[in-house]
Amino acid sequence: MLREITIRELAAKKVRGEKIVMITAYDCLTARQADAAGVDCILVGDSLANTALGHDDTLPVTMAEMLHHTAAVSRGTRHALVIADMPFLSYQGSQDEAVTNAGRFLKEAGANAVKLEGGAAWAALSTRLVASGIPVVGHIGLTPQAVNQQSGYRVQGKVPADILQLRLDAHALEEAGCCLLVLECVPAEVAVRLSQELTVPTISIGAGAGCDGQVLVVADLLGLHDRHTPKFVKRYADLGAAATAAIRQYADEVRAGAYPGPDHQFSLPAEVRAQLDDVWKS
Ligand code: KIV
Repeated sequence: MLREITIRELAAKKVRGEKIVMITAYDCLTARQADAAGVDCILVGDSLANTALGHDDTLPVTMAEMLHHTAAVSRGTRHALVIADMPFLSYQGSQDEAVTNAGRFLKEAGANAVKLEGGAAWAALSTRLVASGIPVVGHIGLTPQAVNQQSGYRVQGKVPADILQLRLDAHALEEAGCCLLVLECVPAEVAVRLSQELTVPTISIGAGAGCDGQVLVVADLLGLHDRHTPKFVKRYADLGAAATAAIRQYADEVRAGAYPGPDHQFSLPAEVRAQLDDVWKS
């Protein structure tokens, strides 16, 4: 489904110097809230795994789960471009399998683009997806699906050889036709140079203010959990604590008989109520 924000509009924003706003969402209600707030892109990240689904990392999430949640987000989104993350091992096997899996996000789940983690090694696949009509968002720097390969969640591109590799990766993905490029946990000095020399809009998650846009995981931004958050996260609310307090008050009121009150129940019309004793005896 074509939405108000298109990849052409995102490219135009970079040219006009307007920042691109992206947030993750995994369900229809959150997508509606993000859409109403006017974000440009909603990413159904594979962070679904370690947020809503309770896994330790992103590796276990499946195609079926990603499709299910992407479809829910799509149903709640009219304005923002919807991007679906390709889960671990859904594109690393063969190009044919990757095209089929990526296509399912557009065909069955209403996404507008897919995101792949990794650098130049995925340029050929990205070219093929784009040629198939599937817009691709690249993702370099810290790539959580490579947590074992990268020995944890670490800032990437801190030494000259790694900086040059990031640059090669970024240019290869731009040439492959990626419509956006996520830079995760890259030093701000490197990210700003990449953003200046690339024509593809860059989206930072922990890569500083010099990128063309920003993305945050919704649970971090809204304070839905009390786990550790990375340095780059800014909490804009404390909804997790507010939710726990509300549920605790509900539990207390049920136990005390204070909920439901007269306003929260249905009553018979007066004439039927007057007959209730007789009805009961009949
Ligand atoms: O899965 C995810 O949430 C991501 C980030 C870029 C936010 O890939």
